[in-house]
Amino acid sequence: MKKCSKTSPHVRLADVSKSFSTGTDTLVALDDVTLDVARGEFVCLLGPSGCGKSTLLRIIGGLLEPTFGSVTVGEQTPAEAQAEKELGFVFQEPSLLPWRSASDNIRLPLEVNRTNGGDSGRSVEDLLNVVGLDRFGHYYPSQLSGGMQQRVALARALVSDPSLLLMDEPFGALDEITRATMRYELLRIWDEDQKTVVFVTHSIPEAIVLSDRVAVLTGRPGHVRSIVPIDLPRPRTELMERSRAFLNYSEQLHDLLLPGGGDG
Ligand SMILES: Nc1ncnc2c1ncn2[C@@H]1O[C@H](COP(=O)(O)OP(=O)(O)OP(=O)(O)O)[C@@H](O)[C@H]1O
Ligand SMILES: [Mg+2]
Repeated sequence: MKKCSKTSPHVRLADVSKSFSTGTDTLVALDDVTLDVARGEFVCLLGPSGCGKSTLLRIIGGLLEPTFGSVTVGEQTPAEAQAEKELGFVFQEPSLLPWRSASDNIRLPLEVNRTNGGDSGRSVEDLLNVVGLDRFGHYYPSQLSGGMQQRVALARALVSDPSLLLMDEPFGALDEITRATMRYELLRIWDEDQKTVVFVTHSIPEAIVLSDRVAVLTGRPGHVRSIVPIDLPRPRTELMERSRAFLNYSEQLHDLLLPGGGDG
C-alpha cells in the first residue's frame, strides 16, 4: 500500500555521504547532504561538474546505496518506492530502444510491470498528446529529433504515473531554443500532474525558471552550500526571464557557485 502523508516530506535525505573505492583510492563524492523535498515541490540540484549531483539522484532513486546517512521516499526506502512504481527517471541521453517505435518505447515499463503482475498505468495515446507527439507514435527513434526523443523518454517516465520524477540534465544535449521550450513544457506537465520533481542541472537560468527551491552544491565532495527559494509567480513565463528579480536570482546563484562563494 502506498504511504503518502501530506505533511511529511516526499524525499528526505539525512546526513547522506557517499564514498567510492577505486582500487587504491577512496573518493568522497558526497559529504553530509541533508535535504527535504515536499510533496509536489520542484527542486533543482545545481552544482559544478563532478560535485555528485548524479550520485545524489541515483541514491534518491535507489540505484546506489549511501555510505552513511538515510534516505526516505514517501516514508519508504527508495527500493520500496521503486518497486511500487513511484519513481520515474529521465537521464541526459534518452536511451530508447531503436527497434521499437515511440509508442512501444513509452509502453515498455507497462509491459515489464504487467509481467510482474502490476497494474496498467497511463494510456500511451494520452501521453503522446501530453508531450506533443500525437502524430509520431509510429516513428522509430532514428526518425525523431533529439528533442522529440527526449519527449519520448519523458513520456516513458510518466507512463507508470509515478509520484516522484528524477531528472538528470534531461535537456543537456539539446540546443538552447529547444531546451527553453522543453522547460516550459515540463512545467505545464508538472502543473497538471502535481508530481514531485528533483531535477539536476548546470544551468542557472534553467534552475530559476523551473524551481520552487534551488539546492546549490559545493564542488567535490558535494555538500548543500545553500538552498535558495525562487519566489517568482507561477506559471513562469519567458518574459519573467528579463525581470530584475530573475537577474537578482541569477547573480545570487552565480556567486554561490564560485569556489568559496557565499561562505563566511
Ligand atoms: N561508480 C563510481 N565509481 C567511482 N567514482 C565514481 C562513480 N560514480 C561517480 N564517481 C565519482 O563521484 C564524483 C561525482 O560524480 P557525479 O557523476 O555524481 O557528478 P556530477 O555532479 O553528476 O557531475 P556532472 O555535472 O559532470 O554530471 C566524481 O568525482 C566521479 O568520478
Ligand atoms: Mg551528472
